[in-house]
Amino acid sequence: MSLVRSLGYLRVEATDVSAWREFGVGVLGMTDGRGPDPNSAYLRMDDLAARIVVVPGERDRLTSTGWEVADPAALTKLTAILEEAGAAVKPASADEIADRRVAHLVEVDDPFGNRLEFFCGAELGHKPALSAYGTKFVTGEQGMGHAVLPATDDAAALRFYTEVLGFRLRDSMRLVPEHIGLPPTDQPLWMRFLGCGPRHHSIALAPLPAPSGMIHLMIETETIDDVGRALDRCAKRRAPIISSLGRHANDNMISFYVRTPGGFDIEYGWGGAVVDDATWVARQTTAHSVWGHRFAPGAQ
Ligand code: FE2
Repeated sequence: MSLVRSLGYLRVEATDVSAWREFGVGVLGMTDGRGPDPNSAYLRMDDLAARIVVVPGERDRLTSTGWEVADPAALTKLTAILEEAGAAVKPASADEIADRRVAHLVEVDDPFGNRLEFFCGAELGHKPALSAYGTKFVTGEQGMGHAVLPATDDAAALRFYTEVLGFRLRDSMRLVPEHIGLPPTDQPLWMRFLGCGPRHHSIALAPLPAPSGMIHLMIETETIDDVGRALDRCAKRRAPIISSLGRHANDNMISFYVRTPGGFDIEYGWGGAVVDDATWVARQTTAHSVWGHRFAPGAQ
């Protein structure tokens, strides 16, 4: 079992924080929370004080993903494993810890420059996160969803995420370079789906360019009607739909994709698979979806 339990939060830098707040609340159905910086947006999905933190900045990009571990002992152990593997682990400053409202935090870059934050002791918001649309998100031991991050070297990605961080390979998908706008190559191109808890995958790594630092974030709702209502809100608010509704071939998620003000996408889904490592067998999917998921021209 990985010392990492689940995807805990996203931190995003934004040129227009209020656009993000409107998108999070009005399109995604999240709750507008409060936090230490009045100029930032704190979007809630559940009892945690925030799941997406949007801070004002010069660019629109993901700055880090936060990963929850069980307790300080697990964080100490994970830090030692990372250091032994040669990763430059940076202890967080008191300001960073206060800002993230956690008890302990360390930061490290993966081999591709994706900033990862590992934390424990997250603060709970004791007001219920009541969505204006009645949306309830699937979180708990499955975390806030899954993140798809860019990784240009398949062997290095597998080494870091499975051998060092302890994620389990749950599935792979071979990509055809010409289909995703990349030059032809003799080498197989893989997208890897990795899990650290019951969610089929909490992270996926793809050899795709991602100027915003992220390919997509998946969030999951408790009912299919929540997905349908979110689609209606996208139409009403003219949020750019990147992919039509479809069902993924590996984690069975029924979802659509919408572009965030941050330049990356949100996969908004329902019905994702949960797996048990005692019986799970990693396989290779040969199509991304069993139906639907028609992507807009030029989108991945
Ligand atoms: Fe996804």
